[in-house]
Amino acid sequence: MIWSRIVGTGSGLPAKIVTNDDLAKRMDTSDEWIRTRTGIRQRHIAEPSQTSSDLGADASRAALAAARINPQEIDLIIVATATPDYIFPSTACIMQAKLGIKGCTAFDVQAVCSGFVYALAIADKFIRSGQNRCALVVGTEVYSRILDWNDRGTAVLFGDGAGAVVLKADSKPGILGSVLHADGSYADILSVPGNVCGGKIVGSPFLRMEGQAVFKFAVKVLDEVARETLALCGLATADIDWLIPHQANVRILEATAKKLGIEPSKLIVTVDRHGNTSAASVPLALDLAIRDGRIKRGHKVMLQGVGGGFTWGASLVEM
Ligand code: UT7
Repeated sequence: MIWSRIVGTGSGLPAKIVTNDDLAKRMDTSDEWIRTRTGIRQRHIAEPSQTSSDLGADASRAALAAARINPQEIDLIIVATATPDYIFPSTACIMQAKLGIKGCTAFDVQAVCSGFVYALAIADKFIRSGQNRCALVVGTEVYSRILDWNDRGTAVLFGDGAGAVVLKADSKPGILGSVLHADGSYADILSVPGNVCGGKIVGSPFLRMEGQAVFKFAVKVLDEVARETLALCGLATADIDWLIPHQANVRILEATAKKLGIEPSKLIVTVDRHGNTSAASVPLALDLAIRDGRIKRGHKVMLQGVGGGFTWGASLVEM
């Protein structure tokens, strides 16, 4: 039987850090409000010249180095992003060229903050079918480009960055099981409701969100999808070594762990330092906790996404 295993992870973060106090100098907010409502202390913000493919390529190089894999071994690239470099070609194709890889399958997945979990599940299926042997799965975002910096209700919440994993075919289990969901009837509670037509932006190019509706939805479905994924794998919450939900708000993360009966010490939190980086948040958190030594080989990690669409999903991964 063929399984897919995560054999390397990497991060790509812009050098520029913007603290809550920095934001309070340019809008009517405070460090106290942002920290107590969200847990966020700072976020990384890309330079105008830095794109999703740049950050994704940085994260990919780090993941390839960690996996000791030559880029030419990669035969599948899936990039999850809601902030692509262009309308087309895909960010995956642009990133492929930046990595000096030619010819392999490359495409983007659009599932907003659930994008990485969607992309990982898709790559797992490609590998388990025998079609591919070694995949690069990337979540990368430059949300600073789609924020209305006059809207304190959303501008303080997000950051830029990328996370990547190398997924390889193996005879031993890695991705134990994945569950993906969507409900488009909730499209309006979190969206960027604009497009380009005839050379003009039609609608709005800025993110808008009904914060409390999103909050409630997220806590409900993160609990449900974790249980569904455990049931699929024939495991229980006690089998989870680490929980990595999408890093949107520390209160959502803590509420999810509590509902699942998982100790707070098993929760990986990076929203304090990265803000909400949408599709990048889960692989960034995974990489950080592997590099600081918390997540070790053999540990079972529950990765969870939730976001615009609405979309949500989870993967239970044995490292
Ligand atoms: O990845 C996608 C997922 N996104 C999320 O998961 C976000 C989910 N939602 C949330 O995290 C929370 O709903 C927020 C952090 C967005 C907001 O927290 P809240 O506790 O729901 O606050 P609220 O929207 O009810 O606003 C409370 C007050 C309002 O003032 P009034 O009307 O009570 O006078 C807001 O105007 O806080 C005010 N406010 C702010 N004050 C200072 C809103 N944003 C800010 C701000 N600084 N940045």
